[in-house]
Amino acid sequence: MSLDIFWFLPTSGDGRYLGTSDFGRAPTIPYLRQIAVASDELGYDGVLIPTGSGCLDPWVVASSVAPATQRLKFLVALRTSLGNPTSTARAAATLDQVTGGRLLLNVVAGGDSAELAADGVFLGHDERYAAAGEFLQIFRDLLAGKTVDFEGHHHRVEKARNLFPPVQAQVPLYFGGSSPAAHALAAEQVDVYLTWGEPPAAVAEKIADVRARAAALGRTVRFGVRLHVIVRETTAEAWADADRLISHLDDDTIAKVQQRQAGMDSVGQARMAALHRGRRDRLEVSPNLWAGVGLVRGGAGTALVGDAKTVAARLREYADLGVDRFVLSGYPHLEEAYRFAELVFPLLPGRQRAAGSARAVTGGPFDAAVLPRPLARAA
Ligand SMILES: Cc1cc2nc3c(=O)[nH]c(=O)nc-3n(C[C@H](O)[C@H](O)[C@H](O)COP(=O)(O)O)c2cc1C
Repeated sequence: MSLDIFWFLPTSGDGRYLGTSDFGRAPTIPYLRQIAVASDELGYDGVLIPTGSGCLDPWVVASSVAPATQRLKFLVALRTSLGNPTSTARAAATLDQVTGGRLLLNVVAGGDSAELAADGVFLGHDERYAAAGEFLQIFRDLLAGKTVDFEGHHHRVEKARNLFPPVQAQVPLYFGGSSPAAHALAAEQVDVYLTWGEPPAAVAEKIADVRARAAALGRTVRFGVRLHVIVRETTAEAWADADRLISHLDDDTIAKVQQRQAGMDSVGQARMAALHRGRRDRLEVSPNLWAGVGLVRGGAGTALVGDAKTVAARLREYADLGVDRFVLSGYPHLEEAYRFAELVFPLLPGRQRAAGSARAVTGGPFDAAVLPRPLARAA
């Protein structure tokens, strides 16, 4: 089975260390474009662009960087509570045209009531999923070219139409959420269910639940895992770099971030926090799965740490559970995109070396240390 590998655009900033602005990188469009171009050239299948009040707008970022890429897909976060289904369908169809049919959407209901309140959204946890469900019914029908009359509890439209269709017959919908309400919505309406990188046994349980709920509705759903990676030529180097990543992080900062996250109503976030419990001394929560990122980052909080063979083997463990795509990232995102592609791509099923990688030659006339391989697209 071949695996789809996505990278990530860090639209709230990047850097060498977590929990400090030392050596920080602002999320400028030229920097994000560099990461997108690198991901495209290296042979990643797509990039995830997140949404949140601390991020640049994902739709504007996607349309700004996409013209610099050839085949990379854009997995753009869609927070359903921030727009209405008709205008969002127009934006999605337009962005699918901008990208020549390379748009994927990551549907986000939202898990932080304080952040949502600042955006004028005051729905409770399960109500947000009910509203998202109504939104998606209208949105999917519009993108499929239908004229829509809909009267729900949260959304109502009459004779709604989307006049300029997307390039793709249907824009694939990705989605993440760990609560029962999220699993129910995934089973009903989405194509790909994503989970943050919990230990394999926990991921297996989530997959079984979503799969069973979908089967009861006569549907199938595909699965993906969102993880950070710290891959180096040796496992010792990788662990040293994991420690280095949090070496500027103080306990006060950890406590503040954890307290803030504890106020969220996201089941997924609570599951991430339970892995490390705010402690920096017990961070390997499953073999080679390190929860250090979650000490200060909301959302994806775990990283696979090791040499290329080890990381590839850990990815295959998830693949054996039915996962066929990964959304990866690492710090800084430009450098780690190269490291992961160069070291791990050759070890993944259905994928050869990173596109554009080179083999060494000796005795070149003008300091030529390497010659490019043909730019074969990894299958
Ligand atoms: C892979 C993945 C990516 C996510 N991306 C975002 C995002 O960009 N912005 C956001 O606010 N929430 C994001 N979420 C959070 C979920 O959409 C959801 O709001 C959260 O998990 C709370 O839902 P729950 O209580 O059902 O777990 C993401 C979740 C996953 C698994």
